[in-house]
Amino acid sequence: MRMYKNSAKIDTCFQQDALRRCISLRTEDSPSLFKLQSLLEDNLADKMHAMEEYIATMPKAELHVHIEGTIEPALAQQLAIRNNVPIPSSIASLADTSNGYSFHDLTSFLAVYYPNMAVLLTSQDFFDLAYAYLTKAHSQNVVHTEMFFDPQAHTSRGVSFSSVVTGLREAIVKAERELGVSASLIMCFLRDMDAQSAMDTLIEALPHKDWIVGVGLDSDERDNPPSKFSDVFARAKQEGWLVTCHCDIDQKNSIEHIRQALEDIGVDRIDHGTNIVEDERLVQMVKEKGLGLTCCPVSNSVVTRDFKGKEIVQLLRSGVKVTISSDDPAYFRGYVNENLMKMVNDANISKEELLTLQRNAFEISWISEGKKEYFLRLLEKY
Ligand code: HPA
Ligand code: ZN
Repeated sequence: MRMYKNSAKIDTCFQQDALRRCISLRTEDSPSLFKLQSLLEDNLADKMHAMEEYIATMPKAELHVHIEGTIEPALAQQLAIRNNVPIPSSIASLADTSNGYSFHDLTSFLAVYYPNMAVLLTSQDFFDLAYAYLTKAHSQNVVHTEMFFDPQAHTSRGVSFSSVVTGLREAIVKAERELGVSASLIMCFLRDMDAQSAMDTLIEALPHKDWIVGVGLDSDERDNPPSKFSDVFARAKQEGWLVTCHCDIDQKNSIEHIRQALEDIGVDRIDHGTNIVEDERLVQMVKEKGLGLTCCPVSNSVVTRDFKGKEIVQLLRSGVKVTISSDDPAYFRGYVNENLMKMVNDANISKEELLTLQRNAFEISWISEGKKEYFLRLLEKY
């Protein structure tokens, strides 16, 4: 056992393969094979545990997290009671079963996701939501996070823009002061609403301009290409905001949407966007421009048949600035550490690649050069 335990020569990949072979050889028929199988299993478990520790204590940046997607069922229930509104049906059923929310693709996910927001009404609610996420992120050693929020999902229900942004902002200020977490806000437009609504939202946000670092585009991509919002993005840039855009996984016209985001809109990064592997010209373009992709493997595994680990690794190894985030962790049941661990378990990435993913995240983050250098130094010392 010891012989294997400290052996740096036997790598995880080899062991997994050996283990698979042992299992296929029906080890119960052979005592020595059975022993080998248990040694390999022990050793793999030790290695996985060490990787978990390595990920957990690594300083990290999270660049793709929807604050509304961090609402854990217990908090949603608490807010519904506090605000005297019905507990949303997906949450009421969750309390009885441990099956989780029921959805199978982006459209059906969004059909559960938006109704659950009915519990968010006051600036205190948005504060509680963001502070709970920031506390969780801090517990996972996230030192910087950029949080999406969807103002139209709230203003369309009669909640004022300023309640949303004030609550979120206060949570950020408190988290910086008390937890030492750095955080900023990215305002997303709902792409299944019209461009005028996005423009109205942009105008409404202007008095809060300094609290928002950039703008993004989320919700249902089907028949809602980035080009639908070209005027809105152009105005956002004029106002000095940085620009990102969801290009979700395996959408109808995925490649054309990625092309529009890059060439027509001129985004500063792309959220998801892994279908770019299908177009070498676009891959070269993001590499040349140093643009990053914010990938979310656990979320991918829920809304598509595949978690796109192979594609993420391919992009990473070809030098694209890929990063890993949680997307909607309360829904997909995985915060950033679990997402990184999925890449270790199911895509076999190495410690060095984990470091590269985090270096990428700090490099493409929307923070001052000084803060960036500080975080990168923190990572280099790790
Ligand atoms: N894609 C699009 N819209 C979203 C997502 C996503 O992953 N999460 C929350 N809104
Ligand atoms: Zn997202």
